[in-house]
Amino acid sequence: MRTTQRKTLPLGLLFAGSMLLASRAAAQDVTIPVETQHNAIVLQTDAEKHLNMVYLGAKLANTAEYARIQKMYKQADDSGVQNDVYTPSGSASLGEPAITVTHADGNKSLNLAYVSHTVSKVDDDISLLVVTLKDPAYDFEVKLYYKTYFKEDVTEQWSVIKHNEKGIVTLNKYASANLNLKGNTTGGFWLKQYHGNWAMEVQPEEARLTHGIKTIDSKLGTRANLYEHSMFAISLDKPATEDEGKVFYGAMEWSGNFRVDFELDVANNLKIIAGINNAASEYHLKPNTEFTTPAFLYTYSDHGKGDASRKLQSWARKYKIVDGEGSRLTLLNNWESTYFDFNESKLAGLLKDTKKLGVDLFLLDDGWFGNSHPRNGDNAGLGDWQENKQKLPNGISSLVKEAQANGVKFGIWIEPEMVNPASDLYKAHPDWVIKQPNRPEKYFRNQLVLDLANPKVQDFVFGVVDGLFTKNPDLAYIKWDCNAVIYNAYSAYLKKDQSHIYVDYVNGLYNVLKRVRAKYPKVPLMLCSGGGGRVDYGALQYFTEYWPSDNTDPLERVFIQWEYSFFYPAITSSNHVTDWGKQPIKYRVDVAMMGKMGFDIVIGKLSENDLSFCQSALKNYDALKDVIWHGDQYRLASPWDNDAASIMYVNTDKSKAVMFNYLVNNRYGSGSKVPVRLKGLDPNKKYRVKEINLYPGTGSVLGNEDLTFTGDFLMNVGINPEASTYHTSVVLQLEAI
Ligand code: GLA
Repeated sequence: MRTTQRKTLPLGLLFAGSMLLASRAAAQDVTIPVETQHNAIVLQTDAEKHLNMVYLGAKLANTAEYARIQKMYKQADDSGVQNDVYTPSGSASLGEPAITVTHADGNKSLNLAYVSHTVSKVDDDISLLVVTLKDPAYDFEVKLYYKTYFKEDVTEQWSVIKHNEKGIVTLNKYASANLNLKGNTTGGFWLKQYHGNWAMEVQPEEARLTHGIKTIDSKLGTRANLYEHSMFAISLDKPATEDEGKVFYGAMEWSGNFRVDFELDVANNLKIIAGINNAASEYHLKPNTEFTTPAFLYTYSDHGKGDASRKLQSWARKYKIVDGEGSRLTLLNNWESTYFDFNESKLAGLLKDTKKLGVDLFLLDDGWFGNSHPRNGDNAGLGDWQENKQKLPNGISSLVKEAQANGVKFGIWIEPEMVNPASDLYKAHPDWVIKQPNRPEKYFRNQLVLDLANPKVQDFVFGVVDGLFTKNPDLAYIKWDCNAVIYNAYSAYLKKDQSHIYVDYVNGLYNVLKRVRAKYPKVPLMLCSGGGGRVDYGALQYFTEYWPSDNTDPLERVFIQWEYSFFYPAITSSNHVTDWGKQPIKYRVDVAMMGKMGFDIVIGKLSENDLSFCQSALKNYDALKDVIWHGDQYRLASPWDNDAASIMYVNTDKSKAVMFNYLVNNRYGSGSKVPVRLKGLDPNKKYRVKEINLYPGTGSVLGNEDLTFTGDFLMNVGINPEASTYHTSVVLQLEAI
């Protein structure tokens, strides 16, 4: 990242080690380019000292030219066009605000002028730009933070709001970021957004933005992504394809109510304002205290959605998710094979099956707790995190030991943010529960949400996790679920600050997760929310993986996993083989293999061939998991447009790759008929191509000959995986020779 103040600071100085640079506004314009390896955003002051965002795109070779960008736009002052870097409301800017406040004296006018900025280098890759803006008429300040990851072309942007007025200031809207994309496109801006529901996560829609404001948001409190996602893509000119086009990707790092506004103005500029949803969430800020917004994450690519997604994936592995460059455990889960109906002897059998199957860990799901209100269904027990004495008379510790005796690890399901009215916890602490004092309770899956704004509740939730690990130091995995939204938002703890509840809930959750991670830095945690109701990088910074959907029908999963992959790396996607869907076991396993593989089936009911197929597929997975987890992902053929979907992963030195092909159209004669061009290989290397995951007794679609091709051939001509109604999924392994 560089910063220039026209005619004053020599550029060469600006990269000097971790030197901290500060500049004060002088009479002339201040130009601040925020650069990453390929991109730049440019901020520039105008005559009134307002800081504007005048550019977002590929970085320019001649950095001196950044200062000339704005002059190319000849809008009159009264054109209605504003490019504020953080749009205030109630003064001269009339667009959708990033921030709206009520000052201590009741006045609602805010003006933000540029004061100064600093740039510091955190390390070789990461820089931090901090811009200070102040209201000339009020003692009110906003600092904008731009944390840039140079190699990955990724930026995290947030703001810190502070005042020293005589009394409380109310923040009515307080976005994390406000970006302006200039209207010099040839075909406007195209928004790709996601909606969904339980078992129907991440359904994409893409359309051209029209003038006015389009908003995507959530007001669900918890499970914020159940119906809409804050992740989106904006293509410039026309919808970007996998390999071509200008595309901006953004997402909130926030696990609660979010709001993203897209405002297309009269000059066709697009303003993107992203942050916490301010609906019913005015925040009361005391003098001299800081309000820090969550980060808005973004990247930009001139080379299509594939390139943008690889940037996000490698950033996430390196910087965001827990142990992103490390390893993961394959597992057998018992949810769909037993639901709530199990006991020690049944589990002993499942532990043996875990070993027999050849996975690393057994994951005990819901139903193991509650005594006065046993968890035998989803209507009781949440909150009472003691082993059910009838099902587990010898407790979890004996199961952990039993697992060890079988040579596997043991993990467990919890949903610690929740309570069933039928529980001891509900009776002991009614004031810990989010519910209106004067309205009937409204349940989601028979349960209510605990008030994580309350530090005592945070202690309780931390204690659930800590207690499990303290009593069972060898416990190796936790699945953390969250199945209810917040109805009747009211916190007994917050008293007069009820409008803080949605924000303080999420910050309370993060406090707990921070404490968990401080004490248990690497233990694998799965982020689940009745499927993919809560998948975002705010939460994922504490987790190793997420559960994309309860829908494990592999055909549906091809689409769901495909869409998540634009934002999240394969290592984070928990894909389980279950009995959903009618496809053969091979198809189910092949689909699960494109991420972090697990199983949730009754091993004892598998035919001999099915079992031996699973066992050998796990061995193949073991050999390829490094490529899938840490390699670059390339989408080759979309399930939305083709009879068969194809994706591949290539390791860093391009010596190993794996290509997955799934038939997604079952009509007569459907299948891959032409070769699919591969990507990301070394054109000069020779690759041996081999079909793996062959079902016992079947031969390879490629025949028996030893197939070697140059990367050049594979990327220009391609290979026909022949996924068809006879071979509904085909997995090809490539090894450089
Ligand atoms: C949620 C999860 C499932 C399972 C059940 C248990 O629905 O998404 O995977 O854990 O809860 O009740």
